[in-house]
Amino acid sequence: MTRKPGYSGLQIGLHWAVAALVLFNYLFGETMEEAFDAVYEEGQLASGLGYQLHVWVGLAVLAMASLRLALRAILGGGPAASSGPALLEKGAGAIHALLYGLMFAVPLLGAAAWYAGIEDAADLHVLAVDGLMILAGLHAAAALFHQFVLKDHRLLRMMRAR
Ligand code: HEM
Repeated sequence: MTRKPGYSGLQIGLHWAVAALVLFNYLFGETMEEAFDAVYEEGQLASGLGYQLHVWVGLAVLAMASLRLALRAILGGGPAASSGPALLEKGAGAIHALLYGLMFAVPLLGAAAWYAGIEDAADLHVLAVDGLMILAGLHAAAALFHQFVLKDHRLLRMMRAR
């Protein structure tokens, strides 16, 4: 069976939903830090909606990342023809693999910290979030480079379903 290049509507929807949810938890992560300190340092009960949102948004990212990987295996996706310099194409492949790894590692480390009270997991969670944001920034910059410098319209592939 030959696969058409590009992505399905569901793949595109999941891509942007994960990006928005990761950004949300990044911007509002402080409420979770406060809840974690309250529970594990001061022995209090966590209160407010903020930390609950953080947990549910993070778990949604984990579920959506799993679905994305499954769809990628079934439907394919990714660049059809290489249009950029070989080194950049290799770098992009490595960034995509790391992004997938961190989409799983960040919520799993957060869950280990929150549900099992593992302090090291909390520290690694925060570190992994920083890595995820740096790589997401590079990934976005590369997409803009393809769109506006190489003009190969690769960004549009993540906007229009095949
Ligand atoms: C993609 C998903 C997630 C992102 C982007 C994210 C992001 C963040 C950010 C930015 C912080 C604050 C770091 C700081 O204050 O410097 C944080 C803290 C925290 N998050 Fe998440 N998070 C995610 C998923 C989760 C999940 C699923 C859980 C638990 C089930 C969780 C549990 C925690 C805990 C316990 C802390 C406090 C860590 C500490 O104070 O050392 N996170 N997260």
